[in-house]
Amino acid sequence: MNSLIEDINKLKEEKNAIILAHNYQPKEVQNIADFLGDSLELCIKASEIEDKDLVIFCGVDFMAETAFILNPDKKIIIPDIEADCQMANMLHEEELLKAKEEHPDASVVLYVNSIAEAKQHADTLCTSANAVKVVNSLDSDKVIFGPDSNLGQHVAKRTDKEIITVPADGHCYVHNKFTKEDVIAKKAEYPNAEVICHPECVDEVQEACDKILSTGGMLTYISQSDKEEFIIGTEIDMITRLNEEIPNKKLYPLREDAICETMKFHTLEKIKEALEKEEPQIKLDNSVAEKSLKAVKHMLNASK
Ligand code: 13P
Ligand code: SF4
Repeated sequence: MNSLIEDINKLKEEKNAIILAHNYQPKEVQNIADFLGDSLELCIKASEIEDKDLVIFCGVDFMAETAFILNPDKKIIIPDIEADCQMANMLHEEELLKAKEEHPDASVVLYVNSIAEAKQHADTLCTSANAVKVVNSLDSDKVIFGPDSNLGQHVAKRTDKEIITVPADGHCYVHNKFTKEDVIAKKAEYPNAEVICHPECVDEVQEACDKILSTGGMLTYISQSDKEEFIIGTEIDMITRLNEEIPNKKLYPLREDAICETMKFHTLEKIKEALEKEEPQIKLDNSVAEKSLKAVKHMLNASK
């Protein structure tokens, strides 16, 4: 293991590479990353890497694609090209175009968890950290929002605008595992703990929790809180990150089986090989990348 880490660090230096990783990466990948974050933080970081030649992106494909959209001249490498997001694949370009035709007066806000072919038709993007702010920053009273219907509902409760979700039932299979009963049972087990969940959870879970935050928001909130105990309603490796950064808190998973399988496809062996071969590269059609850049930039500006 140690020599593998040494090899990765050496290759990183030689190739002037940076390793970006999402908070759901397994511990060994979190430990080797140069930058760890939620989707928005990763997007911001990807917009600030002019000095690097190579990016190793340890996350799911839509995240690496967004890094490519921001840096079309750089090599964006994803250690396992099969690491995709089931939710992003739930909204197809055709369905979005149909919704736009049906609601010509609506703005289109896509969750960053979407495929690039859909992103190119969006006015702006959002993440779980800035969705309400981005939607409220728009002039139109009507918003087509996709693909996460739970995040869409979360936003709808916090804006005066009409939210039309496409598809109607887009969701994350990991966050959909959490139930209201899980919250009740964990609260009974740890009565002093505050319960925090992700806005990808279903509405009744969100309603039962004390706080609803993005993964980056969870880190900031818990590190600044006087409370000692928290129940965490998101992917299991978020707790790995939280334990590393704030070891003095007691953290309990809302469910042990909240695992995003594709996030775990990246391994140290694959990272080393990716650095050596500079493959597999994220590639997007030039026109798709160019058209999507407008929406990515709009989101980055709106979240300042
Ligand atoms: P965050 O932006 O909160 O990290 O969420 C990304 C994600 O895919 C959640 O499932
Ligand atoms: Fe996609 Fe869900 Fe995995 Fe997040 S946790 S990357 S939304 S499948």
